[in-house]
Amino acid sequence: MEREKIRLQKYLADYGVASRRAAEKLIAAGRVMVNGQIVDAMGVKIDPQQDRIVVDGQLISCRPRLRYLLMFKPAGYICSAHDERRRRTVLDLLSGVSERVYPVGRLDYNTSGLLLLTNDGELTNKLIHPSHQVEKTYLAEVTGIPTSHDLRRLREGIMLDDGMTAPAKVRLCSTRADSAVVELQIHEGRNRQVRRMMEAIGHPVKHLRRTAVAFLTLKGLQAGQWRELTAEEVARLLQL
Ligand code: URA
Repeated sequence: MEREKIRLQKYLADYGVASRRAAEKLIAAGRVMVNGQIVDAMGVKIDPQQDRIVVDGQLISCRPRLRYLLMFKPAGYICSAHDERRRRTVLDLLSGVSERVYPVGRLDYNTSGLLLLTNDGELTNKLIHPSHQVEKTYLAEVTGIPTSHDLRRLREGIMLDDGMTAPAKVRLCSTRADSAVVELQIHEGRNRQVRRMMEAIGHPVKHLRRTAVAFLTLKGLQAGQWRELTAEEVARLLQL
């Protein structure tokens, strides 16, 4: 079977050398060599498994391809590579991904929803660094029905054992006889934060789902499924 060849500029973008446009400029400037030959024409295709790609004297082809995955994590999966208790991990859901991707931040074992996975350390740092913390949206089904006073406490920031939370955006979505669904938007990423916030107002979480991270949503995915981010989505995340 013939191996898949890809355009040189796409290869350079996929492997994190430069954006597609900037890669075209590198090629046109004669800064890219394929198997020892300068390639300055557009449209040349290469075999990522076999060809030796060098940019400005640096070998690129030994780098792993950068991957950006958006997963709908089901409850009952852990967000780390190994678990001493041998529980299932989110990596078990990634068939066909040979690169060593890891989750960007964590969702609890029992939390479902949107999880990003990547092997791009720069993007990970950007997304989890406290100074850039992006907005995350959660739907929490809670015990009992929070009053408007309870919701105001969440909006104003609430004292947890590791300090005050930043103000959250909060909306009561629906109520039943003895439970309610609350939507929360927060930009911090403390351990079990939403569960602890709801416990603090006396309405513990029964089910928790993360429905969005910044502009990304779960649209089109079922629990357990994942998709690759588009180049535009990656570029937008890097600009946040
Ligand atoms: N807050 C929580 O309590 N749990 C999560 O998994 C994510 C946010």
